[in-house]
Amino acid sequence: MTRRLTGLKPTGHLQLGNLLGAIRPLVGGQRETGSELLTAAPSPAVQGTGRGVTESVIMIVDLHALTIEHDPQRVRDLTVEHARLMLAAGVDPDVTTMYVQSHLSEHAQLHYLLECATGFGEARRMIQFKEKSTGPDPVRLSLLTYPVLMAADILLHDTEEVPVGDDQTQHLELARDVAYRFNTRYGQTFTVPRAVTPAFAARIMDLAEPTAKMGKTNAVTAGVIGLLDRPDVVRRKVMRAVTDTRNIVRRDPDRQPGVTNLLEIYVACTGDRREFASYGELKTAVADAVIAVLEPIQRRFAALTPGEVLSVLHDGAKQARPRAQATLERATEAIGLIKAA
Ligand code: TRP
Repeated sequence: MTRRLTGLKPTGHLQLGNLLGAIRPLVGGQRETGSELLTAAPSPAVQGTGRGVTESVIMIVDLHALTIEHDPQRVRDLTVEHARLMLAAGVDPDVTTMYVQSHLSEHAQLHYLLECATGFGEARRMIQFKEKSTGPDPVRLSLLTYPVLMAADILLHDTEEVPVGDDQTQHLELARDVAYRFNTRYGQTFTVPRAVTPAFAARIMDLAEPTAKMGKTNAVTAGVIGLLDRPDVVRRKVMRAVTDTRNIVRRDPDRQPGVTNLLEIYVACTGDRREFASYGELKTAVADAVIAVLEPIQRRFAALTPGEVLSVLHDGAKQARPRAQATLERATEAIGLIKAA
């Protein structure tokens, strides 16, 4: 059994890009073998083993949401909303373990041990740290050590595969380096994880700014379709999507990024590669297709109570705990600490 782990950071509302790029491939893979679902990603990611079934672990990584300026109530709300949407989108808790990161204290404990196996320079080199530490807000120390906590998330579960987007490949590399170094120095303790990309994950761009990935800024804006957007809102956003003046509906990411993105969204939603006579026809079809994909998710979302969601999350933590404890214990002893009574 291949174990695959995903972390969702509750810092913004989930949007169409998350659904088509990450959530759908994950949900689709719950009962399938790894081989059909994964392809080789650009280095350093490699192809999934393709042997046997894949077991998925989904964490709502609330500790990571505290590394930048945050509002406590918003983090609480988004944590439950993320889990509720994942269930509504088809995550089956009988097959997939889903829990809240902070519910297992082992994450924070392993984080500390791994800090003792990571160089300051290594952390400081992370591109995301450099980017996020130049803004107006004071920089939290946890923003620097964030990738080490991410490594702890991954290593705690003996994870073999981590689906990653471009923005996370460097963090995954760090997790691999730290795991390998720890094993070499203190004895075999961790499984060294690999990055993988889902074979059919769509890359969805912002409707108002089609050269930027949808949801990059974490806000649901005019160019971002939130998974909980009402049908009329979805339609308005799609109809106002930026295109160009060429008036030819064709796939040309360089010269017609807006039109190409709408075609991508259409194919991702319907699986159909039909042709369109005009931008108007394309937009109407895309709006209909997105609304049709979101409707059942929103219906199931409305039917789930926060109590039901919390109960799934608590069961998930219970399920994940023994493995996390075992890994933490191995690491604790290997690094030189005496086992507690
Ligand atoms: N850093 C990831 C992001 O920003 C979230 C994350 C935290 C994660 N821990 C993880 C992803 C472990 C995969 C595995 O998207």
